[in-house]
Amino acid sequence: MKRVFVTRQVFPEVAEALRQRFEVDHNESDRPYTPAEMAGRIASANGVLSTVMDKLGEDILSAGKHLEVVSNIAVGYNNVDVAAATARGIRVTNTPGVLDDTTADLTWALLMAAARRIAEGDAYVRRGDWKIAFSMSAFLGADLHHATLGVLGMGRIGQAIAKRALGFDMRVLYHNRTRLPDADERRLNATWVERDSLLAESDFIVVMVPYSPAVHHFIKAEDFAKMKPTAVFVNTARGGVIDDAALIEALRAKRIASAGVDVFEGEPALNPGYLELPNVVLTPHIGSASRATRLRMCETAVLNLTAVLEGRTPPHLVNPQVLQGAKA
Ligand code: DGY
Repeated sequence: MKRVFVTRQVFPEVAEALRQRFEVDHNESDRPYTPAEMAGRIASANGVLSTVMDKLGEDILSAGKHLEVVSNIAVGYNNVDVAAATARGIRVTNTPGVLDDTTADLTWALLMAAARRIAEGDAYVRRGDWKIAFSMSAFLGADLHHATLGVLGMGRIGQAIAKRALGFDMRVLYHNRTRLPDADERRLNATWVERDSLLAESDFIVVMVPYSPAVHHFIKAEDFAKMKPTAVFVNTARGGVIDDAALIEALRAKRIASAGVDVFEGEPALNPGYLELPNVVLTPHIGSASRATRLRMCETAVLNLTAVLEGRTPPHLVNPQVLQGAKA
């Protein structure tokens, strides 16, 4: 029987489905393993079901003498050294599509929370500071309706975010390397603009580009300087896509109004500067965190893993060159 290593806790039904076909080493404790523990467990595995928090570099992958597949339970796979995997003939798979709407919802939750100062208001009420029932100028925020939304990165999730703006009668600008077909631009009422125009004209800016070293600090100090002082900025893409220190400085200096951040450089550690700011809403990487979506992600990852271990091509292979036996 082939052996599968599940690096973190998954839903019981997912573990059970795996046990029907494989010998399963399931980290039910959910404690992230050390690199040495990871390497030790991978040494005897044919397949790995991993999460975005598992750093699967060359050092760990090289321990996997029998490893055929790394099936990441995520659309992103920047935690895996894909080139090293390809060089060893290891398939790497992801879970695109199933989390688009849930991540778009969370992006909107952060846009609205940052715009309308929800976290600040919540803390104020809990602290017992609410003494006067109504005050004309307390907690004034920004209107989303009829404002301009800028989407940097118009893939599937970017489009799901833009689609939600229709209900708020927003003007939508987007920037992407490739323009959407006319029909999609019309459907989303979205206009392609140069990146700098988007930064300068948008009231709300979201970034939704997948992380790769090429987009490290894709948004940095000079970009925040181009935004409106009233701008609200949201990052639900990946830590490292924005320069956290530059965002903190822009918020502290009021170069932009507020922000919502779900993903951080080096998470779960985060730049302590965030914690001192009232004008940022922070969430712990929960873009895809609804039960239904997390379950679909697990099921998709199991399909990918099972396909490889049973000798078929998985539905979501991120390194197809491995099939030709090509070295990355
Ligand atoms: C992904 O799928 O890449 C998410 O960040 C994990 O929720």
